[in-house]
Amino acid sequence: MSPLRLRQVHKAMTRPLHIGLLGAMPEEIGSGLSHLKQRSSTHHGDLTLHQGVWGDGVRLILAWSGWGKVCAARAATRLLAAAPNLDLLLFTGVAGAADDALQQWDVVLADAVMQHDMNASPLFPRFTLPPLNRDLLQPDPDWLAWASRSLDAAQTAGELKGFGAIRPGLIATGDQFIGDAAVLQELKAALPDLQAVEMEGGAVAQVAEQEAVPWLVLRVISDGADEAAAQSFSDFVHVYDQRAWSLIEALLKRLSAR
Ligand code: ADE
Repeated sequence: MSPLRLRQVHKAMTRPLHIGLLGAMPEEIGSGLSHLKQRSSTHHGDLTLHQGVWGDGVRLILAWSGWGKVCAARAATRLLAAAPNLDLLLFTGVAGAADDALQQWDVVLADAVMQHDMNASPLFPRFTLPPLNRDLLQPDPDWLAWASRSLDAAQTAGELKGFGAIRPGLIATGDQFIGDAAVLQELKAALPDLQAVEMEGGAVAQVAEQEAVPWLVLRVISDGADEAAAQSFSDFVHVYDQRAWSLIEALLKRLSAR
């Protein structure tokens, strides 16, 4: 058993699970706060961390980070400082599709994330993150398998009404809202397995990796990262606000089945 997994098992045996939840915007976590008992919050400049208990004793700490890698890394760092024994840090929200087979409402569970605007060449190959000396970050396999099983089970049970297909895949993060088919095409040429693009997941994953905390990135397709993306995105997030929590809850209610 890996040292990370041993630590997780030990932690899970000795106390209730503690889950961190981040989204860039309130609409990406939906009605989450109203489902928490024993709620409290702390303020850190313009960032608020909300804590509470969900269901039969899952401890949750959640925040909306704001857009982009800096906001995401800052929120992840604050969250981990406030909850040093976190079992899992989950980033969730919407994304642009990079694969033509994906449609609005399809769900991509990252089996890897990367930062498409990292480029320290010629000192490191394009996309390589210097502190980690690799480009792809992969979530802990046990947490990934659990999330995948849980989402499939939730869909079979009819809990994910309105959502489309659920699939694992590579998600690329960068400080750029992609609304240009040519820009997307260039990225796809460099990253043939790319499924979706967004602006935070890879930054949160990097912080979590460097802090040795398990992480997951879960995204729902809002647009095609093309010329229509800005309009599709804006229309989508209004509706997504109503459904976002059902996706998160599908995972929370299956935590005991890990
Ligand atoms: N998040 C949702 N859609 C996106 C896009 N097209 N580019 C970057 N981030 C996104």
